[in-house]
Amino acid sequence: MSLNRRAFVIGGHISPFIGKNHPDFVWKRHPDFGKRDNPGLEDYITGAVQGALDATGTPAAAVDKAWIGNFVGELFSSQGHLGAAVAGAHPGLVNKPIMRVEGACASGGLAFSSALDAIAAGADVTLVVGAEVQTTASARTGGDYLARASHYSRQRSIDDFTFPALFARRIKAYHEAHGLTESDLAHVSVKAYTNANKNPLAHMKAIEMTHERAAGEAGNPKFLTNPDVRDFLKVSDCSQVSDGGAALVLVSEAGLAKLGKTESDAIEVLGLGHATGNLFVDGDPLTMGTTTAAAERAYATAGLSAADVQLAEVHDCFTITELLMMEALGFAAPGESMAQFKDGRTALTGELPINTGGGLVGFGHPVGATGVKQVLELYRQMKGQCGDYQIAKSIEIGMTANMGGDDKTAVVGLFANR
Ligand code: CAA
Repeated sequence: MSLNRRAFVIGGHISPFIGKNHPDFVWKRHPDFGKRDNPGLEDYITGAVQGALDATGTPAAAVDKAWIGNFVGELFSSQGHLGAAVAGAHPGLVNKPIMRVEGACASGGLAFSSALDAIAAGADVTLVVGAEVQTTASARTGGDYLARASHYSRQRSIDDFTFPALFARRIKAYHEAHGLTESDLAHVSVKAYTNANKNPLAHMKAIEMTHERAAGEAGNPKFLTNPDVRDFLKVSDCSQVSDGGAALVLVSEAGLAKLGKTESDAIEVLGLGHATGNLFVDGDPLTMGTTTAAAERAYATAGLSAADVQLAEVHDCFTITELLMMEALGFAAPGESMAQFKDGRTALTGELPINTGGGLVGFGHPVGATGVKQVLELYRQMKGQCGDYQIAKSIEIGMTANMGGDDKTAVVGLFANR
Protein backbone atom coordinates (compact mmCIF):
# COMPACT_ATOMS: atom_id res chain seq x y z
CA MET A 1 0.00 0.00 0.00
CA SER A 2 1.38 3.43 -0.82
CA LEU A 3 0.52 6.86 0.51
CA ASN A 4 -0.84 8.62 -2.55
CA ARG A 5 -0.93 12.02 -0.84
CA ARG A 6 1.62 13.33 1.64
CA ALA A 7 0.30 13.73 5.22
CA PHE A 8 1.66 15.79 8.10
CA VAL A 9 1.06 16.00 11.84
CA ILE A 10 1.22 19.64 12.89
CA GLY A 11 0.89 19.13 16.66
CA GLY A 12 -1.88 18.83 19.19
CA HIS A 13 -2.63 18.54 22.87
CA ILE A 14 -2.16 15.93 25.60
CA SER A 15 -3.94 16.30 28.95
CA PRO A 16 -2.22 15.21 32.14
CA PHE A 17 -2.86 11.47 32.53
CA ILE A 18 -4.13 10.91 36.07
CA GLY A 19 -5.44 8.20 38.37
CA LYS A 20 -4.45 6.48 41.61
CA ASN A 21 -1.01 7.67 42.85
CA HIS A 22 -1.18 10.94 40.90
CA PRO A 23 -1.10 13.97 43.23
CA ASP A 24 -4.10 15.65 41.54
CA PHE A 25 -6.32 12.57 41.51
CA VAL A 26 -9.10 12.93 44.09
CA TRP A 27 -9.82 9.78 46.08
CA LYS A 28 -11.11 9.15 49.57
CA ARG A 29 -7.94 10.18 51.44
CA HIS A 30 -7.12 13.15 49.19
CA PRO A 31 -7.50 16.59 50.90
CA ASP A 32 -9.86 17.68 48.10
CA PHE A 33 -12.17 14.67 48.57
CA GLY A 34 -15.76 15.96 48.63
CA LYS A 35 -14.66 19.39 47.43
CA ARG A 36 -14.06 18.69 43.75
CA ASP A 37 -14.52 15.86 41.26
CA ASN A 38 -11.99 14.38 38.91
CA PRO A 39 -12.50 15.43 35.27
CA GLY A 40 -14.89 13.18 33.31
CA LEU A 41 -14.94 11.87 29.75
CA GLU A 42 -16.66 15.02 28.46
CA ASP A 43 -13.94 17.19 30.03
CA TYR A 44 -11.15 15.16 28.45
CA ILE A 45 -12.73 15.19 25.00
CA THR A 46 -13.50 18.91 25.12
CA GLY A 47 -10.08 19.79 26.54
CA ALA A 48 -8.21 17.71 23.98
CA VAL A 49 -10.15 19.11 21.02
CA GLN A 50 -9.88 22.75 22.10
CA GLY A 51 -6.24 22.29 23.12
CA ALA A 52 -5.29 20.78 19.77
CA LEU A 53 -7.08 23.47 17.75
CA ASP A 54 -5.44 26.20 19.85
CA ALA A 55 -1.95 24.66 19.84
CA THR A 56 -1.94 24.29 16.06
CA GLY A 57 -3.82 27.49 15.22
CA THR A 58 -6.45 25.44 13.39
CA PRO A 59 -9.87 27.12 13.06
CA ALA A 60 -12.57 24.52 13.76
CA ALA A 61 -14.23 25.59 10.50
CA ALA A 62 -11.17 24.32 8.60
CA VAL A 63 -11.57 20.73 9.87
CA ASP A 64 -12.87 18.46 7.09
CA LYS A 65 -13.39 15.33 9.18
CA ALA A 66 -12.66 14.07 12.70
CA TRP A 67 -12.36 10.75 14.54
CA ILE A 68 -12.29 9.77 18.17
CA GLY A 69 -10.74 6.61 19.57
CA ASN A 70 -12.40 5.28 22.72
CA PHE A 71 -12.74 1.73 24.00
CA VAL A 72 -15.43 1.44 26.66
CA GLY A 73 -17.06 4.81 27.38
CA GLU A 74 -20.35 2.96 27.81
CA LEU A 75 -19.01 0.94 30.75
CA PHE A 76 -16.85 3.41 32.68
CA SER A 77 -18.84 6.58 31.90
CA SER A 78 -22.26 5.33 30.68
CA GLN A 79 -21.59 7.29 27.52
CA GLY A 80 -21.37 6.18 23.91
CA HIS A 81 -21.97 8.12 20.67
CA LEU A 82 -18.72 10.00 21.08
CA GLY A 83 -18.52 11.45 17.57
CA ALA A 84 -21.27 13.78 18.72
CA ALA A 85 -19.24 14.54 21.85
CA VAL A 86 -16.43 15.82 19.63
CA ALA A 87 -18.97 18.01 17.81
CA GLY A 88 -19.98 19.26 21.25
CA ALA A 89 -16.43 20.29 22.06
CA HIS A 90 -16.45 23.32 19.75
CA PRO A 91 -19.33 25.12 18.00
CA GLY A 92 -17.33 25.15 14.76
CA LEU A 93 -17.38 21.34 14.66
CA VAL A 94 -21.17 20.98 14.69
CA ASN A 95 -22.41 19.24 11.52
CA LYS A 96 -18.90 18.09 10.53
CA PRO A 97 -18.49 14.38 9.68
CA ILE A 98 -17.16 12.86 12.92
CA MET A 99 -17.15 9.29 14.15
CA ARG A 100 -15.86 7.10 16.93
CA VAL A 101 -13.66 4.08 16.18
CA GLU A 102 -12.96 1.20 18.56
CA GLY A 103 -10.19 -1.38 18.55
CA ALA A 104 -9.59 -1.91 22.28
CA CYS A 105 -6.29 -0.28 23.32
CA ALA A 106 -5.52 0.46 19.65
CA SER A 107 -8.60 2.70 19.32
CA GLY A 108 -6.43 5.83 19.11
CA GLY A 109 -4.21 4.26 16.46
CA LEU A 110 -7.29 3.34 14.46
CA ALA A 111 -8.57 6.92 14.69
CA PHE A 112 -5.23 8.08 13.28
CA SER A 113 -5.34 5.43 10.54
CA SER A 114 -8.87 6.53 9.57
CA ALA A 115 -7.77 10.15 9.29
CA LEU A 116 -4.84 9.15 7.11
CA ASP A 117 -7.23 7.29 4.79
CA ALA A 118 -9.32 10.45 4.58
CA ILE A 119 -6.27 12.51 3.61
CA ALA A 120 -5.54 9.95 0.87
CA ALA A 121 -9.16 10.32 -0.28
CA GLY A 122 -8.95 14.10 -0.54
CA ALA A 123 -9.47 15.62 2.91
CA ASP A 124 -7.01 18.39 3.74
CA VAL A 125 -7.48 19.02 7.49
CA THR A 126 -8.43 16.25 9.92
CA LEU A 127 -8.71 16.05 13.69
CA VAL A 128 -7.78 12.87 15.58
CA VAL A 129 -8.97 12.59 19.19
CA GLY A 130 -8.52 9.86 21.82
CA ALA A 131 -9.96 9.75 25.33
CA GLU A 132 -10.77 7.33 28.12
CA VAL A 133 -11.87 7.57 31.74
CA GLN A 134 -11.31 4.41 33.81
CA THR A 135 -11.18 5.52 37.42
CA THR A 136 -14.95 5.51 37.90
CA ALA A 137 -14.73 1.81 38.85
CA SER A 138 -12.41 -0.19 41.12
CA ALA A 139 -9.37 -1.82 39.51
CA ARG A 140 -11.15 -5.17 39.86
CA THR A 141 -14.36 -4.03 38.12
CA GLY A 142 -12.24 -2.20 35.56
CA GLY A 143 -10.42 -5.46 34.94
CA ASP A 144 -13.75 -6.96 33.89
CA TYR A 145 -14.51 -4.02 31.60
CA LEU A 146 -11.06 -4.17 29.99
CA ALA A 147 -11.49 -7.92 29.52
CA ARG A 148 -13.93 -7.05 26.70
CA ALA A 149 -10.76 -6.64 24.62
CA SER A 150 -10.07 -10.36 25.02
CA HIS A 151 -12.26 -13.19 23.71
CA TYR A 152 -14.55 -12.65 26.69
CA SER A 153 -16.48 -15.93 26.72
CA ARG A 154 -13.27 -17.98 26.59
CA GLN A 155 -10.67 -15.82 28.37
CA ARG A 156 -12.53 -13.76 30.98
CA SER A 157 -12.33 -16.49 33.61
CA ILE A 158 -8.54 -16.95 33.58
CA ASP A 159 -8.31 -14.37 36.39
CA ASP A 160 -10.28 -11.43 37.80
CA PHE A 161 -7.56 -9.36 36.13
CA THR A 162 -7.80 -10.89 32.65
CA PHE A 163 -5.26 -8.74 30.82
CA PRO A 164 -2.60 -8.81 33.52
CA ALA A 165 -3.01 -12.61 33.50
CA LEU A 166 -2.76 -12.84 29.70
CA PHE A 167 0.53 -10.97 29.82
CA ALA A 168 1.78 -12.88 32.87
CA ARG A 169 1.38 -15.89 30.59
CA ARG A 170 3.75 -14.21 28.15
CA ILE A 171 6.26 -13.46 30.95
CA LYS A 172 6.15 -17.10 31.99
CA ALA A 173 6.73 -18.28 28.41
CA TYR A 174 9.60 -15.81 27.94
CA HIS A 175 11.12 -16.89 31.25
CA GLU A 176 10.99 -20.52 30.18
CA ALA A 177 12.34 -19.86 26.68
CA HIS A 178 14.94 -17.16 27.36
CA GLY A 179 15.62 -17.23 31.11
CA LEU A 180 14.04 -13.82 31.82
CA THR A 181 14.18 -13.02 35.56
CA GLU A 182 12.25 -10.71 37.89
CA SER A 183 15.38 -8.60 38.17
CA ASP A 184 15.49 -8.31 34.37
CA LEU A 185 11.90 -7.08 34.14
CA ALA A 186 12.58 -4.62 36.95
CA HIS A 187 14.93 -2.75 34.56
CA VAL A 188 12.01 -2.19 32.18
CA SER A 189 9.79 -0.85 34.94
CA VAL A 190 12.53 1.40 36.35
CA LYS A 191 13.13 2.98 32.93
CA ALA A 192 9.40 3.71 32.57
CA TYR A 193 9.10 5.35 35.98
CA THR A 194 12.43 7.21 35.67
CA ASN A 195 11.29 8.77 32.40
CA ALA A 196 7.84 9.52 33.86
CA ASN A 197 9.44 11.30 36.83
CA LYS A 198 10.74 13.90 34.34
CA ASN A 199 7.37 14.29 32.59
CA PRO A 200 4.84 16.72 34.15
CA LEU A 201 1.96 15.08 32.23
CA ALA A 202 2.74 11.57 33.47
CA HIS A 203 0.44 9.60 35.78
CA MET A 204 3.46 8.29 37.75
CA LYS A 205 5.41 11.56 37.77
CA ALA A 206 5.65 11.53 41.57
CA ILE A 207 6.33 7.85 42.20
CA GLU A 208 9.89 6.64 42.51
CA MET A 209 10.61 3.11 41.34
CA THR A 210 13.94 1.65 42.42
CA HIS A 211 15.29 -1.57 40.99
CA GLU A 212 15.03 -3.10 44.46
CA ARG A 213 11.32 -2.26 44.72
CA ALA A 214 10.51 -3.33 41.14
CA ALA A 215 12.29 -6.66 41.65
CA GLY A 216 10.74 -7.34 45.07
CA GLU A 217 7.28 -7.69 46.49
CA ALA A 218 7.32 -5.04 49.23
CA GLY A 219 4.57 -2.60 48.22
CA ASN A 220 4.56 -4.34 44.85
CA PRO A 221 2.38 -7.42 45.21
CA LYS A 222 1.82 -10.33 42.92
CA PHE A 223 -1.93 -9.81 42.78
CA LEU A 224 -3.16 -12.46 40.34
CA THR A 225 -4.92 -15.52 41.72
CA ASN A 226 -4.52 -17.92 38.77
CA PRO A 227 -1.85 -20.33 40.11
CA ASP A 228 -0.40 -20.96 36.63
CA VAL A 229 0.71 -17.36 36.19
CA ARG A 230 0.49 -15.52 39.53
CA ASP A 231 4.22 -15.74 40.27
CA PHE A 232 5.17 -13.98 37.07
CA LEU A 233 3.61 -10.53 37.35
CA LYS A 234 3.77 -7.72 39.92
CA VAL A 235 2.02 -4.38 40.15
CA SER A 236 5.16 -2.61 38.84
CA ASP A 237 4.89 -4.62 35.60
CA CYS A 238 1.49 -3.11 34.79
CA SER A 239 0.35 -0.06 32.88
CA GLN A 240 -1.78 2.38 34.84
CA VAL A 241 -5.53 2.69 35.08
CA SER A 242 -5.52 6.29 33.87
CA ASP A 243 -7.92 8.99 32.73
CA GLY A 244 -6.84 11.31 29.94
CA GLY A 245 -7.30 12.72 26.48
CA ALA A 246 -5.19 13.67 23.48
CA ALA A 247 -5.88 15.19 20.08
CA LEU A 248 -3.79 16.05 17.03
CA VAL A 249 -4.24 17.70 13.67
CA LEU A 250 -3.28 15.72 10.55
CA VAL A 251 -3.18 17.58 7.24
CA SER A 252 -2.32 17.20 3.56
CA GLU A 253 0.20 19.44 1.76
CA ALA A 254 -2.74 21.65 0.78
CA GLY A 255 -3.84 21.59 4.43
CA LEU A 256 -0.42 22.89 5.50
CA ALA A 257 -0.81 25.80 3.11
CA LYS A 258 -4.41 26.49 4.20
CA LEU A 259 -3.28 26.75 7.82
CA GLY A 260 -0.23 28.88 6.99
CA LYS A 261 2.21 26.14 8.05
CA THR A 262 5.39 24.86 6.47
CA GLU A 263 6.90 21.37 6.52
CA SER A 264 9.26 22.48 9.27
CA ASP A 265 6.22 22.93 11.56
CA ALA A 266 5.28 19.30 10.96
CA ILE A 267 6.32 15.67 11.03
CA GLU A 268 5.46 13.67 7.93
CA VAL A 269 3.77 10.26 7.90
CA LEU A 270 6.06 7.98 5.87
CA GLY A 271 4.10 4.78 6.34
CA LEU A 272 1.33 3.25 8.40
CA GLY A 273 0.56 -0.43 8.86
CA HIS A 274 -2.66 -1.77 10.38
CA ALA A 275 -3.05 -5.50 11.00
CA THR A 276 -5.73 -7.56 12.74
CA GLY A 277 -5.36 -10.99 14.34
CA ASN A 278 -7.97 -13.67 15.10
CA LEU A 279 -9.78 -12.84 18.36
CA PHE A 280 -10.92 -16.41 18.88
CA VAL A 281 -7.55 -18.17 19.24
CA ASP A 282 -4.51 -17.70 21.47
CA GLY A 283 -1.39 -16.47 19.70
CA ASP A 284 2.19 -17.58 20.36
CA PRO A 285 3.02 -16.06 23.76
CA LEU A 286 6.62 -15.44 22.66
CA THR A 287 5.85 -13.27 19.66
CA MET A 288 3.53 -10.48 18.57
CA GLY A 289 2.78 -11.51 15.02
CA THR A 290 0.01 -8.98 14.41
CA THR A 291 2.34 -6.15 15.40
CA THR A 292 5.03 -7.58 13.12
CA ALA A 293 2.56 -7.70 10.21
CA ALA A 294 1.63 -4.05 10.80
CA ALA A 295 5.30 -3.06 11.09
CA GLU A 296 6.21 -4.84 7.85
CA ARG A 297 3.49 -2.89 6.06
CA ALA A 298 4.72 0.41 7.53
CA TYR A 299 8.38 -0.33 6.65
CA ALA A 300 7.42 -1.36 3.10
CA THR A 301 5.36 1.79 2.53
CA ALA A 302 8.12 4.01 3.87
CA GLY A 303 10.98 2.13 2.18
CA LEU A 304 12.71 1.89 5.57
CA SER A 305 13.90 -0.83 7.93
CA ALA A 306 14.23 -1.15 11.70
CA ALA A 307 17.83 0.07 11.47
CA ASP A 308 16.56 3.49 10.32
CA VAL A 309 14.42 4.10 13.43
CA GLN A 310 16.01 6.53 15.92
CA LEU A 311 13.14 6.94 18.41
CA ALA A 312 10.09 4.81 19.22
CA GLU A 313 6.85 4.94 21.18
CA VAL A 314 5.75 1.36 21.75
CA HIS A 315 2.73 -0.14 23.50
CA ASP A 316 4.08 -1.30 26.88
CA CYS A 317 0.77 -2.32 28.47
CA PHE A 318 3.01 -4.52 30.63
CA THR A 319 6.80 -4.61 30.97
CA ILE A 320 6.99 -7.82 28.92
CA THR A 321 5.10 -6.11 26.09
CA GLU A 322 7.90 -3.57 25.63
CA LEU A 323 10.39 -6.41 25.16
CA LEU A 324 8.10 -8.27 22.76
CA MET A 325 7.38 -5.05 20.86
CA MET A 326 11.12 -4.46 20.35
CA GLU A 327 11.38 -7.92 18.86
CA ALA A 328 8.17 -7.58 16.80
CA LEU A 329 9.34 -4.28 15.32
CA GLY A 330 12.77 -5.67 14.41
CA PHE A 331 14.83 -3.72 16.96
CA ALA A 332 16.09 -6.93 18.57
CA ALA A 333 16.27 -10.60 17.63
CA PRO A 334 13.97 -13.01 19.52
CA GLY A 335 15.10 -13.28 23.14
CA GLU A 336 17.62 -10.44 22.82
CA SER A 337 15.65 -7.32 23.70
CA MET A 338 16.47 -7.53 27.41
CA ALA A 339 20.17 -7.05 26.78
CA GLN A 340 19.37 -3.64 25.27
CA PHE A 341 17.84 -2.48 28.54
CA LYS A 342 20.85 -3.51 30.52
CA ASP A 343 23.24 -1.61 28.24
CA GLY A 344 20.99 1.49 28.22
CA ARG A 345 20.31 1.46 24.47
CA THR A 346 16.65 2.42 24.97
CA ALA A 347 17.19 5.02 27.73
CA LEU A 348 16.86 8.77 27.09
CA THR A 349 20.59 8.94 26.36
CA GLY A 350 20.70 5.69 24.38
CA GLU A 351 21.05 5.00 20.68
CA LEU A 352 17.32 4.10 20.33
CA PRO A 353 15.29 5.83 23.07
CA ILE A 354 11.94 4.11 23.63
CA ASN A 355 8.94 5.58 25.47
CA THR A 356 10.76 8.72 26.56
CA GLY A 357 7.78 10.13 28.49
CA GLY A 358 7.33 6.93 30.50
CA GLY A 359 5.19 4.79 28.19
CA LEU A 360 1.99 3.15 29.35
CA VAL A 361 3.62 1.99 32.59
CA GLY A 362 4.88 5.45 33.60
CA PHE A 363 3.02 8.07 31.54
CA GLY A 364 -0.22 6.08 31.94
CA HIS A 365 -2.73 4.31 29.72
CA PRO A 366 -6.11 6.00 29.23
CA VAL A 367 -6.87 3.37 26.63
CA GLY A 368 -8.45 5.33 23.75
CA ALA A 369 -5.98 8.21 24.15
CA THR A 370 -2.81 6.12 24.02
CA GLY A 371 -2.40 5.75 20.25
CA VAL A 372 -2.93 9.49 19.72
CA LYS A 373 -0.54 10.38 22.54
CA GLN A 374 2.16 8.16 21.02
CA VAL A 375 2.16 10.15 17.75
CA LEU A 376 2.20 13.44 19.66
CA GLU A 377 5.09 12.26 21.79
CA LEU A 378 7.14 11.66 18.63
CA TYR A 379 6.12 15.10 17.40
CA ARG A 380 7.11 16.72 20.70
CA GLN A 381 10.49 14.98 20.85
CA MET A 382 11.25 15.75 17.19
CA LYS A 383 10.39 19.41 17.73
CA GLY A 384 12.31 19.80 21.00
CA GLN A 385 9.22 20.30 23.21
CA CYS A 386 9.84 17.65 25.89
CA GLY A 387 11.47 19.78 28.58
CA ASP A 388 13.27 17.68 31.20
CA TYR A 389 12.96 14.50 29.17
CA GLN A 390 14.00 16.02 25.87
CA ILE A 391 16.59 13.83 24.19
CA ALA A 392 19.75 15.65 23.19
CA LYS A 393 20.31 14.41 19.65
CA SER A 394 18.14 15.45 16.73
CA ILE A 395 15.80 12.81 15.38
CA GLU A 396 14.89 12.27 11.74
CA ILE A 397 12.91 9.01 11.84
CA GLY A 398 10.54 7.80 14.56
CA MET A 399 8.07 4.95 14.99
CA THR A 400 4.85 4.37 16.92
CA ALA A 401 3.30 0.99 17.73
CA ASN A 402 -0.18 0.87 19.27
CA MET A 403 -1.71 -2.50 20.11
CA GLY A 404 -5.19 -3.69 21.09
CA GLY A 405 -6.08 -6.81 23.04
CA ASP A 406 -3.49 -9.55 23.32
CA ASP A 407 -1.83 -8.48 20.03
CA LYS A 408 -5.08 -8.63 18.05
CA THR A 409 -5.15 -5.12 16.54
CA ALA A 410 -1.92 -3.30 15.72
CA VAL A 411 -1.27 0.11 14.18
CA VAL A 412 2.36 0.95 13.46
CA GLY A 413 3.48 4.30 12.05
CA LEU A 414 6.73 5.72 10.67
CA PHE A 415 7.31 9.45 10.75
CA ALA A 416 9.99 11.88 9.55
CA ASN A 417 10.97 15.17 11.13
CA ARG A 418 10.71 17.89 8.50
N1 CAA B 1 -1.04 -8.95 48.48
C1 CAA B 1 -1.84 -9.67 47.66
N2 CAA B 1 -2.75 -9.11 46.86
C2 CAA B 1 -2.87 -7.77 46.89
C3 CAA B 1 -2.09 -6.96 47.72
C4 CAA B 1 -1.12 -7.61 48.54
N3 CAA B 1 -0.31 -6.92 49.36
N4 CAA B 1 -2.42 -5.67 47.51
C5 CAA B 1 -3.39 -5.68 46.59
N5 CAA B 1 -3.65 -6.95 46.22
C6 CAA B 1 -4.60 -7.43 45.24
C7 CAA B 1 -5.99 -7.40 45.74
O1 CAA B 1 -6.66 -8.54 45.23
C8 CAA B 1 -6.58 -6.18 45.08
O2 CAA B 1 -7.88 -6.29 44.74
P1 CAA B 1 -9.06 -5.97 45.82
O3 CAA B 1 -8.60 -4.77 46.63
O4 CAA B 1 -10.22 -5.65 44.93
O5 CAA B 1 -9.22 -7.21 46.59
C9 CAA B 1 -5.78 -6.15 43.76
O6 CAA B 1 -4.49 -6.64 44.08
C10 CAA B 1 -5.65 -4.78 43.18
O7 CAA B 1 -5.21 -3.92 44.20
P2 CAA B 1 -5.60 -2.40 44.15
O8 CAA B 1 -7.06 -2.23 43.95
O9 CAA B 1 -4.92 -1.71 45.30
O10 CAA B 1 -4.88 -2.08 42.79
P3 CAA B 1 -4.54 -0.72 42.16
O11 CAA B 1 -5.73 0.15 42.14
O12 CAA B 1 -3.27 -0.18 42.73
O13 CAA B 1 -4.25 -1.23 40.68
C11 CAA B 1 -3.41 -2.82 39.14
C12 CAA B 1 -3.12 -2.00 40.39
C13 CAA B 1 -4.43 -3.88 39.46
C14 CAA B 1 -2.12 -3.43 38.67
C15 CAA B 1 -3.98 -1.86 38.08
O14 CAA B 1 -3.10 -0.77 37.88
C16 CAA B 1 -4.22 -2.56 36.75
O15 CAA B 1 -5.18 -3.28 36.59
N6 CAA B 1 -3.34 -2.31 35.73
C17 CAA B 1 -3.47 -2.91 34.42
C18 CAA B 1 -4.49 -2.17 33.59
C19 CAA B 1 -4.76 -2.92 32.31
O16 CAA B 1 -4.86 -4.14 32.29
N7 CAA B 1 -4.89 -2.16 31.19
C20 CAA B 1 -5.08 -2.75 29.89
C21 CAA B 1 -3.75 -3.18 29.36
S1 CAA B 1 -3.91 -4.36 28.07
C22 CAA B 1 -3.86 -3.46 26.63
O17 CAA B 1 -3.28 -2.38 26.58
C23 CAA B 1 -4.57 -4.04 25.45
C24 CAA B 1 -6.05 -3.95 25.45
O18 CAA B 1 -6.64 -3.86 24.35
C25 CAA B 1 -6.84 -4.05 26.70
